[in-house]
Amino acid sequence: MLAGRQAQLMDVISAAGQPGQHVALYGERGVGKTSFANVLAEVFNQIGVGGYRGVGVNCSTDDNFDSIWRNIFRELDEDIEYVAITPEDVRHAIESFGSPALIVIDELDRLEDESSLSLLADTIKTFSDHSVNSTLVVVGVARSIDELIGEHESIERALVQVEMPRMSRGELREIIEKGCSYAELTALDLAIDKITKFSEGLPHYTHLLGLYAGQRAVMDDRTEIMVVDVDAAVDQAVAKHTIRSDYRRATRSTRTDTLYSQVLLACALAEKDALGFFPAGALRDPLEMITGKRYEIPAFAPHLKKFLEPGRGSVLRREGEPRSYFYRFANPLLQPYVILNGLSEKVISDETLASLEQRSTVHETSEPEPLF
Ligand SMILES: Nc1ncnc2c1ncn2[C@@H]1O[C@H](COP(=O)(O)OP(=O)(O)OP(=O)(O)O)[C@@H](O)[C@H]1O
Ligand SMILES: [Mg+2]
Repeated sequence: MLAGRQAQLMDVISAAGQPGQHVALYGERGVGKTSFANVLAEVFNQIGVGGYRGVGVNCSTDDNFDSIWRNIFRELDEDIEYVAITPEDVRHAIESFGSPALIVIDELDRLEDESSLSLLADTIKTFSDHSVNSTLVVVGVARSIDELIGEHESIERALVQVEMPRMSRGELREIIEKGCSYAELTALDLAIDKITKFSEGLPHYTHLLGLYAGQRAVMDDRTEIMVVDVDAAVDQAVAKHTIRSDYRRATRSTRTDTLYSQVLLACALAEKDALGFFPAGALRDPLEMITGKRYEIPAFAPHLKKFLEPGRGSVLRREGEPRSYFYRFANPLLQPYVILNGLSEKVISDETLASLEQRSTVHETSEPEPLF
């Protein structure tokens, strides 16, 4: 059921073909790293690229170097009898097995034991130095890969870094089409467009909205998903999502004249760079559309500051210097949720979204302004 991701698959296969090259797969939370890694291990098992075996393990907070490798050897169905496993032991063991392996180590960011990270870096180094023909694929958020490389700078050359970006509208469409054909349903183009737009590149929302919309069509005795089904799915997703409590905590107020929910919605709608960052000034236009009133930065700067604090769940992160700060959502999943909530509560409409979208395409295509 995996949709898209052809480019990333080719990157990994080409790295596996080069002795001494290993893979670091990184991306935001929820973009589909684990799904990709699982399919990867399966692909290597099935088509037997160079007689490979594919296995995958997950790191958890109480794992260490030793337990990770014991899990890997168990998955590979190989008996090893070391009391304590070292990077050299791992290399010798892997070299002694009959066929090469593609070994996926997922959720690197959950590994808390620092010496284990350092040992893992040493393992990549020794695999690379000895041109071991098995391939390691470590998976995590960007920071965890930086930390891994920080343990042993020379492994940077041994690692092919593959970014798992947010999914394109086309890839998200593929998810819905695959799901529909599996459930013997069809979906109107406009309905699919709406779901892929609301998903903001995160497959989680495509699955969720697709599921609710499909269920509603079936309850209504139809086999075709329509736009009204998607609108109803938005309400359902907003009401049932576990992230709802994070949203409430960030925006709650005993007074009605505070702007917390409006400012957070403006953050969700603000124009962002490729990494999801936006400056405070980017809130002016969307906030005006939401409230019907023009606010300048000093009016909402205190709200932005509060969103950084634990009291409101630290829903935003901030980088940069005073006067040129950039903000982004700490949890990428919250941003689409805030927009869905705004739609469901009728604070914004499809037209608001369309005009904001139009604004950003105008920016993209317009010529740079002359300096003089
Ligand atoms: N290529 C894809 N095609 C179809 N569905 C996908 C795809 N990638 C991810 N998904 C779906 O999106 C959801 C999130 O994906 P996944 O758990 O793999 O993300 P992740 O990056 O590992 O998240 P986390 O950072 O939380 O570990 C899952 O429900 C998964 O089924
Ligand atoms: Mg994952």
